[in-house]
Amino acid sequence: EKAGYKHFMAKEIAEQPVVIADALRRYVQNGALQLPMEVDFSAVDRLTMVACGTASYACHVAKYWFEQIAGLPCEIDIASEFRYREPPLSPNQWALFVSQSGETADTLAALRYTRDKVAKIVAVVNVPTSSIARESDLALPIMAGIEVGVASTKAFTCQLTTLALLALKAAVDRGRLTPETLATHLSDLAALPGLMNHALALGASIAAIAEELSEAQDVLFLGRGAMFPLALEGALKLKEISYIHAEGYASGELKHGPIALISPQVPVIVLAPRDHLFEKTVSNMQEVMARHGKVLLISDAKGIAEAGMECWKTITMPEVSDAFAPILYAIPAQLLAYHTAIAKGTDVDQPRNLAKSVTVE
Ligand code: M6R
Repeated sequence: EKAGYKHFMAKEIAEQPVVIADALRRYVQNGALQLPMEVDFSAVDRLTMVACGTASYACHVAKYWFEQIAGLPCEIDIASEFRYREPPLSPNQWALFVSQSGETADTLAALRYTRDKVAKIVAVVNVPTSSIARESDLALPIMAGIEVGVASTKAFTCQLTTLALLALKAAVDRGRLTPETLATHLSDLAALPGLMNHALALGASIAAIAEELSEAQDVLFLGRGAMFPLALEGALKLKEISYIHAEGYASGELKHGPIALISPQVPVIVLAPRDHLFEKTVSNMQEVMARHGKVLLISDAKGIAEAGMECWKTITMPEVSDAFAPILYAIPAQLLAYHTAIAKGTDVDQPRNLAKSVTVE
């Protein structure tokens, strides 16, 4: 069932262009958004998104979209905190729960807490028959197909794609998008499967970098804007399957503490497409290099030409729209973790101490 791949994780990483296209086909038809009728954000004044692990990082990315594209105030929380904090909720808001399995105990408990307190409970799930899907008012499948690898990969990018479409719908309902801008966003999303194929073709060069990365004991991931949660996801993926200690930070937080860790032994992976925040990230990178830190810059050709010279390594990505770059940049983050784990000889599909679905607290 691994279809010729050595691991389910490799197969699931490679499937992403196809499953992202499936998700887009499900929710976009003839160039128009086709979400269920109940998805109408016109009277919604706030969105609370709750999840665990990788799914929570998908929410974290989506917060940037809901706020920047739709102007909808949005909060995110991890389910284990949310459920016991018992946060105040408003009857005009929606609560959105993201879960691959749909069975995560904390996420389900958080969902139950919001019942009767919000206007609508929406679930973004991969398993449409799951408890979280059944207990929500509306469940939107992410179309990833069965995910076997404990490290979530294709579910993450399908969650992002579904959330991006929801954010676009929110923007339309709130009168924030002209038909032209909506069409541009939709064509940017439609370009993703093709761009993902280009990113997947970087596998061999990423494997060569991973050989060296596998000697590190600690790794930092940095990103700004919607690439910040992707830095968190990159670090989680690396620690889950290679057991290398890794942390993700917002680039701007560097000098508030983590810069003390910089040394030639701590590779710093910078996720930075050449967007409007690029210059800021470059100056953070320079601070790292001035302290003899080794930088792996993941950017597009323009970004690498501008800032790649003194880097330890670079990965040149295809150009992508600013808004949806995190969906594409998930691929090099996943491939780095995968090949680093291979170099270390760890069990990629069944990492120690982890379960695919966390159904107990
Ligand atoms: O099934 P869920 O999406 O609710 O699972 C949430 C987390 O347990 C999951 O994403 C976990 O962090 C993965 N091992 C990440 O690779």
